[in-house]
Amino acid sequence: MYVDASTLSPAATYRLLVGSVVPRPIAWVTSGIDIVNLAPFSSFAWVSQHPAMLGFTVNRRHDSRKDTIVNIEKFGEYVVNIASDDMLPALHASSEFFEPSVSEAEHLGVALAPSQSIRVPRLLKAPVAMECRFHSTTAFSPTGGEFVVGTVVGWHIADEVMSGGRIDTEKVRPLGRLAGPRYSKLGAITELPPVPGG
Ligand SMILES: Cc1cc2nc3c(=O)[nH]c(=O)nc-3n(C[C@H](O)[C@H](O)[C@H](O)COP(=O)(O)O)c2cc1C
Repeated sequence: MYVDASTLSPAATYRLLVGSVVPRPIAWVTSGIDIVNLAPFSSFAWVSQHPAMLGFTVNRRHDSRKDTIVNIEKFGEYVVNIASDDMLPALHASSEFFEPSVSEAEHLGVALAPSQSIRVPRLLKAPVAMECRFHSTTAFSPTGGEFVVGTVVGWHIADEVMSGGRIDTEKVRPLGRLAGPRYSKLGAITELPPVPGG
């Protein structure tokens, strides 16, 4: 079948997007200083190699912007944490709507640890946590999202997941987001010989 994108409602477009772009990595973002907000975002990628810059899209609520983007723009810093698969229940639960006065991290009992270069704390048990400084927000159409970009100013990497100067994916055990409340875990890894010039 062929689907003409101009015929789709926002909801139908969303359904096709989340089914087409799979599995998506998940930025589990801590933001805010006194009240530490925690929420997952899977419209997530790195957008620059050096400096390392990360981006994710924050969709709009009917009547307000999400706490994460409000905090990021207000404080200018945040942490992108990467969860291991054993953190899935808390990651999923942290997507519930709470008023800005509620810290999802505190509510769910997810332990925080101080960051090194920024005031926003990171997640203690995340195998990888990237401290970020806010770079920009790009707003798309009224029905689109807002793309938030930040520069990584520091990495916290658990000793157990490092091997030979690299992050070992099998030790991180990352999650992927599929359509709806569905996730993937790391499956078998296939390795091929490098391609010249690739
Ligand atoms: C795995 C997962 C991925 C998500 N990805 C996104 C996303 O990319 N963009 C978005 O706006 N919301 C996404 N959400 C929903 C937000 O996490 C949710 O709206 C959350 O309440 C936002 O919290 P905040 O208002 O504290 O920022 C996702 C939810 C889950 C469970």
